[in-house]
Amino acid sequence: MMEDLNFLPTPTLETKRLILRPLAMSDAEAILHYSQKPIFYQAMGRQTYSSASDIEEFIANILKKEPSFYWVVILRGKNCVIGDCGFCQFHKDARRAEICYAVDPVCWNHGYATEAAGRVIQFGFEEAGLDRIQAICSTGNSVSERVIQKSGMQFEGVLRHYIRHEDKPLDIKMYSILKQEWLERQTAL
Ligand SMILES: CC(C)(COP(=O)(O)OP(=O)(O)OC[C@H]1O[C@@H](n2cnc3c(N)ncnc32)[C@H](O)[C@@H]1OP(=O)(O)O)[C@@H](O)C(=O)NCCC(=O)NCCS
Repeated sequence: MMEDLNFLPTPTLETKRLILRPLAMSDAEAILHYSQKPIFYQAMGRQTYSSASDIEEFIANILKKEPSFYWVVILRGKNCVIGDCGFCQFHKDARRAEICYAVDPVCWNHGYATEAAGRVIQFGFEEAGLDRIQAICSTGNSVSERVIQKSGMQFEGVLRHYIRHEDKPLDIKMYSILKQEWLERQTAL
């Protein structure tokens, strides 16, 4: 019989430089601030949110999930949101989740996305009972792909025409890490 997973409320997580606070509806404005920057959605290959109501819908969808493991990323010592990270999909029965992340362009290339993702992956395996964590990126999003690779994930393949954007099909790269691989990586690091 499968062991039941009992989830506590989403905890605040910490890393050396970051605090990951559970996402709240009041974070909509901060997320809109960075996700509306052209450089942000150009890097992503598509625009995900164009208004506060798009972000509110995204947050509402995350918050109604059970469990809802999603955080805003805050720089220690500065009370400002510089990004978001968490499980945009969580399949309890399969013990599988998909990680997503974003960082304000003014803070790019300081290792923040990798640091936040690393903590969320640790939480997923150590506390949320996951066996597999996956990540996807558009074929042109080499920065996100680099974050995924630095997180120890293995490339699984290209999912052809996996999503649509502006009525055009987009290919997506799929990566994953299994709990056993993550544990081995911890001892190797
Ligand atoms: C993807 C994203 C979260 C990365 O944030 P970040 O905090 O800058 O990431 P990190 O600093 O941890 O790592 C970035 C890595 O990409 C590398 N990089 C930067 N520009 C690059 C480029 N043009 N091509 C390839 N790699 C690049 C950096 O050198 C670094 O790797 P390194 O440590 O080996 O040098 C940020 O670019 C972002 O928010 N993009 C828009 C949203 C998005 O695409 N989210 C992912 C959805 S799949």
